Amino acid sequence: MIAKVTEAINYIRGVYNEKPVVGIVLGSGLGSFTQEITIDKEIPYGDIPHFPVSTVEGHSGKLIFGELGGKKIVAMAGRFHYYEGYSAEQITFPIRVLKTLGIETLLVSNAAGGVNPEFQVGDLMIITDHISQLAPNPLIGKNHMEWGPRFPDMSEPYKKYLIEKMKVIASEKNIKVREGVYVVVTGPTFETRAEYKMILALGGDVVGMSTVPEVITAVHMGLPVFAMSVVTDVGIREEENVITHEEVLQAAKEAEPKFKELICELISQI
Ligand code: HPA
Repeated sequence: MIAKVTEAINYIRGVYNEKPVVGIVLGSGLGSFTQEITIDKEIPYGDIPHFPVSTVEGHSGKLIFGELGGKKIVAMAGRFHYYEGYSAEQITFPIRVLKTLGIETLLVSNAAGGVNPEFQVGDLMIITDHISQLAPNPLIGKNHMEWGPRFPDMSEPYKKYLIEKMKVIASEKNIKVREGVYVVVTGPTFETRAEYKMILALGGDVVGMSTVPEVITAVHMGLPVFAMSVVTDVGIREEENVITHEEVLQAAKEAEPKFKELICELISQI
């Protein structure tokens, strides 16, 4: 694994040699955030040794290096999920690479289903904590002490100082943000009604198929994380309507301007 990360880093440094300080993982339907970046270099995942290639509509599949809010950043346009058949190691490989490239903060975004009855489609939610027990843990297997400890502490996976900063930014901009717990599942099925109820009973506010493996990996490496969900559908409801991937992408697109505004400001303040 370490040798693979080194090969990926050597390739990237061969084509782009500046150190990004912030990394951002863009979730489903949030890819147009990249328009905010003054781009220095784009590298398709397929060009980077050992990088997986994303297979899902709405996830484009490249690293974008550039500047935003006066900072050098790197964005992952496209990410990897368990339901694509990738192993936990493959899903989290890019996070190992970004940390080794030198990022000092990781921002993660996703589209998620609301289970908190107060949540509505289009809401933004700061993730304050997660429940990872319904999906494989990405640290199962041999531990590399160079990266982090065998039993990482998880008392503050989402840094309080970043959460506080974002709350101030949101209130200054008059943008409503929720706070809550993200429950990760493997997908690819959306949840049954009974499963949405179970997730609420477990203590979840939203449910999604990503983010947590990346966050656990970042925490393992001592990388501070901030994460935000866009609520793209509501799981617990009376009507008979079904949830579709198209609806999820559309809702994420509609919430994107608010999301962009908040995240750009956060990056400039980090
Ligand atoms: N469930 C799981 N993942 C999701 C959902 C959902 O309702 N919406 C967007 N991603």
